[in-house]
Formats: sequence, structure tokens, C-alpha cells
Amino acid sequence: MSADPSTSRIVALEDDAAFWDDRATITACLREPIPRIPPWFGYDERGSELFESITRLPTYYLTRVERGLLERHAAHMAELVGCRVAELGSGSAKKTGLLLRECAARAATTYLPVDVSREMLLSSDLALRAAIPDLTVTGLWGRYEAGLDWLGDPANRADGPLVVAFLGSNLGNTTPEERAALLNRIAGTLRPGDGFLVSVDLLKPAADFETCYNDPPGHSAFADFRLNHLAHLNRRFDADFDLAGFVPRAHYNSGRTVVEGHLYATREHTVRIPGLDMTLRFRAGDSINVGFSAKFEPDHFVADLSGRGLTRQEHWIDDEQAYGLFLFRRD
Ligand code: TRP
Repeated sequence: MSADPSTSRIVALEDDAAFWDDRATITACLREPIPRIPPWFGYDERGSELFESITRLPTYYLTRVERGLLERHAAHMAELVGCRVAELGSGSAKKTGLLLRECAARAATTYLPVDVSREMLLSSDLALRAAIPDLTVTGLWGRYEAGLDWLGDPANRADGPLVVAFLGSNLGNTTPEERAALLNRIAGTLRPGDGFLVSVDLLKPAADFETCYNDPPGHSAFADFRLNHLAHLNRRFDADFDLAGFVPRAHYNSGRTVVEGHLYATREHTVRIPGLDMTLRFRAGDSINVGFSAKFEPDHFVADLSGRGLTRQEHWIDDEQAYGLFLFRRD
């Protein structure tokens, strides 16, 4: 059975996808001591597709371990989660579908995915409604903050608790400052009794992360996904990044417990970005940061959230203690 695309409901949260042209944020990130591209900018239509290839790499364990946790515990989670589920950065929503199926088996369920890729919202909506006929889906097209504003608006509240899901260890794709601001914003959006279902990748030896976050021989998913950040700057701001002049490499910073993905310039050169009124100069070996993936220690993580008014209700960790899913309640 297939769902009818004409019945997809998508709310545009930021006028005409204004976020793609958020020059102030992009420029500020590119002006950091090591120029950085903000995480959401990597998920245009092409980037979202390329990210799916990362999740299929034999060495990228996060998606597989998280899927395993959801398969094993979805019924229990659904009981605790209820029937109004929002999700930040929903992407293909394939893993979330495991949970939503269990929720929908218990009560009429509404799913509110937030994503910057309209194409992803459309395709995930069709796939979910085909697989779970009773599911109501309202796609929220925009960045996390805009999605949270919409969810917090009393006009958009419904009876019963709301649960905000934040899967894929996407909370880690932030700087510590961005993460603190985001967690406060989430806690500020939720009402007492609402839930926050969040997964995080746990601490491990550096070599494990470096195997996970670099392409294994014969694959180019990470290279393609990371280089697309530059291609996206070329497309949108008329920049002249030469993709052949950069090589991707991720390394684990054990002091800060974060994997940093970089694109290293192979030669000295200058890049012009007319749409941002900017010029970037690279020497050979200089890099541009295309993403953090922070790693977490469960007790610290739970204590951090409890300091923000979110109390752990339940958590699920795989047998190898690689990865954790946590359900918090707003006090
Ligand atoms: N959150 C996941 C992770 O940290 C997926 C992800 C988001 C990612 N952005 C990324 C993976 C950039 C690699 C590169 O792994």
C-alpha cells in the first residue's frame, strides 16, 4: 500500500527556507580560528542522501546499534513515550518507524518530524504512512530552534504529553556552547510531564572512533558527505572551492571527547565566497571543520540533563555498552 503525496502535511517554519541563506551564522562559523561549517548546512537534499550512505558503511556502528536497541525495546519505549512524538533531525525516520509502529498499535499517534530537508520530510512521510496506516504526520520544515518554537506554541499543543525524540547521537554534532543552548531550549519548550528521548554514543578507545568516522577501503561515503559541504557553499554562495584540493580525515580528541571531521587543504590556495563577501586562505595542511561528533559518559550525561530540569526515567544500553538511549521527563 502506498500513501498519497498530496495528503502530506508540511509546515514551513522559516519563510522560503530562509535558513539556507542564514549568512550571519554561516559567516560567523567560517570566521572561527579553524573555519567551520554549521551542522544543518550539510543536510540539503544531496547531503541528506549522502548521509544515508554513511549509515550503511560496515564500520559505522551507530545506526546499527541504535536500530538494535529500538528493535529490542520499542514496545517498552512506546508504553512510556505515549502518542505524540516529535523528532529533531528526523532524516529518513527509518529507525523512528520502529517506535512509531508500537505507539500506533496502542493509541492514535501523531508524529512531528523536524528537518531542514523538505525532500526527506516528504519521502519519510510517505514511507511511514504506507507502513503505519493510522499514523498522523505533520512535517516541520526548518531547523531545531524553529521546530521547538512551533512545538512550544500553545496553539500547537494537544492533550497529553509530548515527547521530543533526538536520535542518532545528533546531540553530539554541536559545540559545547551550542549543546548547552539547545538542551536549555528543549527543557524550556517541554512542559512538566513531557518527555525527551535522546540517544548518545558512549566513550570508547580513540581507534574505535577513527575506524568508525573514516571511510573503510573501497568506500567514499564520508568523503562524499563532507565534500558536499563545500559543494553546497559553491552552489548557494557562488564559492569556488576546488573539491579536489581537500582530503577528509576525522580524528578523536580524547581531551574533549569529540570526533572532529576535517577537510585538509592539500596545497596553499585562496577560496572566494562572493555570496558571503568572504575570502578564505589555506596553507597546505590547514583544515575546515565539517562536523563534531561528541561522545558521552552516561552518568555525566544524566547529571547534566538533571541540572536542566530533565530527570531520567529509563535508559537502554546495548550489551557492549557502545551506545545509549535515554528517556527523560521534564520536572
Ligand atoms: N550524529 C551522528 C554522528 O555523530 C551522525 C552524524 C551527524 C554524522 N553528522 C555527521 C556522522 C557528520 C558523520 C559526519 O555520528
